[in-house]
Amino acid sequence: MTVALILAGGKGTRFQSPVPKQLVLLNGKSILEYSLDIVEVLNDIELTVLVIDPSYEQMFRDITEKYNKRIEFCEGGSTRQESVYNGLTRINELIPLKEKLKVLIHDSARPFARSVFQSVLKKLKTEEAVVPVIKTKDTVYIIKDEKVVDIPCRDHLFNVQTPQGFSFSAIFDCHRLADKKQMHTFTDDGSLYSAFQKTQPAIVAGESMNFKITDKKDMLLGEYYLSKGKTER
Ligand code: CTP
Ligand code: MG
Repeated sequence: MTVALILAGGKGTRFQSPVPKQLVLLNGKSILEYSLDIVEVLNDIELTVLVIDPSYEQMFRDITEKYNKRIEFCEGGSTRQESVYNGLTRINELIPLKEKLKVLIHDSARPFARSVFQSVLKKLKTEEAVVPVIKTKDTVYIIKDEKVVDIPCRDHLFNVQTPQGFSFSAIFDCHRLADKKQMHTFTDDGSLYSAFQKTQPAIVAGESMNFKITDKKDMLLGEYYLSKGKTER
């Protein structure tokens, strides 16, 4: 069994809208709905746990009403890592048999994730952890105290996307350990897994279209992809 853990508990500070960005409409549909629509038609996924900010619970309830697949709500935390941990804890309570349980952890701020969901699910059949990556376009400098301390070779630099897939027990154990050791600064689950599991996640090709909506400008790119009909593959 596979569960989708959809993160919608953030406040969207950089987006600067009256409601969190995942509730904002993109071509007449909330950004969150794009991810829920993907999950709705994926046969491998039986349940969604949706992590939310309870201040907006009614808006989330109104959005999720139309879906046939089971969606359970869970309260988010003050960081993404905490929101994931809360979601995993909820899944742990909901599902008694964990042996073959898998989880796909996805940022609802990435609306065009359909084909990446499929690639991650496929690879997850044989791997314990799967992360989609895409080559970094820019050269990256590592700067500390306003001094360049390293310039890593760009050929080896990749940006990481979601959904990221895991065997449930493996990623839940890692999150529990991170919490126990008070390590609360992980910004994605692949890096948390790699820190505690002492092995690296498998990778699959991500997609430039699977970008994260961070600020208002990103909506224009979203509208562009939608106008070109590229997002339904
Ligand atoms: N997220 C979450 N709980 C948090 C923080 C983030 O569930 N405490 C979710 C967001 O809803 C988003 C995803 O994690 O879908 C990626 O986070 P990001 O793009 O940074 O969104 P926000 O944290 O909401 O935005 P900002 O950083 O600009 O405040
Ligand atoms: Mg954030």
